[in-house]
Amino acid sequence: MFGRFAGLKYLELGRSGLRVSKIGLGTWQIGSSEWGWNRGYGVDDVVRAIERAHELGINFVDTAEIYGGGLSEEVVGRAIRPFRDEVVVATKVWPTHATYDGVLKACERSLKRLGVDVIDLYQVHWPNPLVPLSSTMRAMERLVELGKVRAIGVSNFSLGRLRRAQECLKREEIGSNQVKYNLVERGVEKGLLQYCERERVALIAYSPLAQGLLTARYNASNRPRDLVRRLNPLFDPAVLRRAEPLMTILREVAARHGIEPSQVALAWLIKRNHVIAIPGAKRPEQVESNARAAELELSDEEWRILSEAGSKVSIGVWPKLRIPLRLLGL
Ligand SMILES: NC(=O)c1ccc[n+]([C@@H]2O[C@H](COP(=O)([O-])OP(=O)(O)OC[C@H]3O[C@@H](n4cnc5c(N)ncnc54)[C@H](OP(=O)(O)O)[C@@H]3O)[C@@H](O)[C@H]2O)c1
Repeated sequence: MFGRFAGLKYLELGRSGLRVSKIGLGTWQIGSSEWGWNRGYGVDDVVRAIERAHELGINFVDTAEIYGGGLSEEVVGRAIRPFRDEVVVATKVWPTHATYDGVLKACERSLKRLGVDVIDLYQVHWPNPLVPLSSTMRAMERLVELGKVRAIGVSNFSLGRLRRAQECLKREEIGSNQVKYNLVERGVEKGLLQYCERERVALIAYSPLAQGLLTARYNASNRPRDLVRRLNPLFDPAVLRRAEPLMTILREVAARHGIEPSQVALAWLIKRNHVIAIPGAKRPEQVESNARAAELELSDEEWRILSEAGSKVSIGVWPKLRIPLRLLGL
């Protein structure tokens, strides 16, 4: 065990004044049967994980109204109550609530489930092309005006949509865009990453461990069994085989520093100044390991080799089709 530790660095979410640790905590796992909730881990584990995160100086917790049908927000709210003022709480509104009134109502429900007076970062979970973006963003701005939200974020927004979302706001600025980003899923590097850096929008990297692939524990004959990962093309045997050279490098770098491959993968992400990573965790030991990733300063050469090996893992289109067919027994 180790106490609050010096390795964690902090970053301001855009110009919001909210200072968050570069390693946060993702909580999709809470209450989600697709991750195996109550089969191998449960409420005691995740509450201890949140408490441990706080002890270690992780001050950013990400949840969403959709996670576990609201259970994630409830559990997060209960767990942080004793130290609420030391935590930056982020949650998200689901796209089916993207209308002006829908956002206001969804926010009330989230405030209640979380048991807080104000949500620090309220994020639009996914764009909804059927609802004018201006209505959604006007509602977000209204929530700041009402003191119910401190900062506005978006999630899964392309560069064009992010720009348009900012244009819809009259007084506020978008603090962050939460997007999928890890060593093998690098779509954001085609412009969005650079834009966020230039415009001072924090990039919150979700699935930073590629849902566990970057722990280097899995291979074509040892695949995770939960629904989330059975549906994820990353865990298709062909992709796992293509990822082997990267796994070897991750293991080598990890061994050189006496740490775990997953910590190398997180260190690779947070080397960029405006990126924070929010690994999901099921238990306190995972949180400890993830927090420690901040202690590692990868050399420029290590970073380059990892970047190159990661970019060679092509995920392809075919596995995406094969996996649902396999689930249907075809
Ligand atoms: N905005 C969005 O649309 C969106 C989408 C997805 C996720 N998210 C957010 O991002 C968070 C993280 O993404 P994610 O959950 O998809 O993927 P992730 O963080 O890449 O992977 C999480 C999984 O990795 C394993 N893990 C975590 N820490 C570990 C450690 N130290 N050692 C070994 N294994 C470890 C755990 O699985 P096992 O223990 O089962 O191996 C855990 O369930 C979510 O919780 C959620 O808050 C947002």
